[in-house]
Amino acid sequence: MINYADVIVDLQAGDTGKGKVCNSLSQIPNEYTHVVRYNGGGNAGHTIYKNGKKIVTHFIPSGIVNGVKSIIGPGCVVNPIKLMQEIQQLESNGVEVIGNLFIDKRTHIITPEHIDRDSTDTKIGTTKTGNGPCYSDKYSRNGNRAQHAEILEPFLIDIYEELHGNESKILFEGAQGFELDIDWGDYPYVTSSHCTVGSALMNGVPPQKIRRVYGICKAYNTYVGAKEYEVPSKLFDKIREVGNEYGSTTGRPRQIGWTNLDDIIKACNINGVTHLVVNKVDVLEQVGTFKLIHKGNELPFVTKEFFKIYFENTIKKSCGLIREIIFSESINKI
Ligand code: IMP
Ligand code: MG
Repeated sequence: MINYADVIVDLQAGDTGKGKVCNSLSQIPNEYTHVVRYNGGGNAGHTIYKNGKKIVTHFIPSGIVNGVKSIIGPGCVVNPIKLMQEIQQLESNGVEVIGNLFIDKRTHIITPEHIDRDSTDTKIGTTKTGNGPCYSDKYSRNGNRAQHAEILEPFLIDIYEELHGNESKILFEGAQGFELDIDWGDYPYVTSSHCTVGSALMNGVPPQKIRRVYGICKAYNTYVGAKEYEVPSKLFDKIREVGNEYGSTTGRPRQIGWTNLDDIIKACNINGVTHLVVNKVDVLEQVGTFKLIHKGNELPFVTKEFFKIYFENTIKKSCGLIREIIFSESINKI
């Protein structure tokens, strides 16, 4: 039986600190029995700091570092060779993977041919991890599921049996973000999966079981891809350096912009966000400039406190489901 499910969803274009939030939540004793990744593949890079060491996961849910059963759900795509490398990297950092990592048998497999096809992309600025071509094959019904890859056999489960057959308390971990969602994002500058809370439900979990939705954003916005997003400025260069805004999968510099409250409101309302986490406020503090976009205007704030108050009041007024807003300043905790 499923007791409850909480969902972590990125409200911007990825890289907002979902890995950090997932790591933090999955450390709470007895809170979760399972952490489930619900979309994406090796295009994602979730950075976690464990005992002072930096660990980046691409396929495996971040909860694995805390010994919580971690499932790669059917909405994800997996590159078996890269997955094996990731398992080794985690094990060499003292993380117990065997016995904690499971893959739903329906998950699709990224092949070298998918990576070849992705490698020629110049239009979208993809991560070239084979993600789009793999989802393409899945939806045109030419794909291969994990149940056909021998190397994955030790990890295979049926997610229905696992979640409904046990007393489950689930934490769903999303990848990418609302602005990269195949339907809600700025098409075609999007990824090939669904990045909304709806995607979490596709793991065979009834909507009535959703307890909390953690929406994650940053105090400023970032985007990586072929679209020209950043209006170049020295200030944004500084934010990039202080915030270390370089892709954790590709190393590309992320384009920077101010957080747009109209977009955050929309993303909160569509995803039913109950708990909003605003990460990296300390980066703007170090840079010494606080700005937000609201109703099309660029609004400057003299202090961090004014920034936070405006942010909080605007969101609370427009998003009826919000119960808590957390401004996060440290890289390890929320
Ligand atoms: P793809 O998902 O590799 O096909 O890339 C499509 C778009 O999504 C590109 O603009 C990528 O830079 C972006 N993207 C994909 N995954 C991530 C992520 O985890 N963080 C940030 N951007 C991403
Ligand atoms: Mg990332």
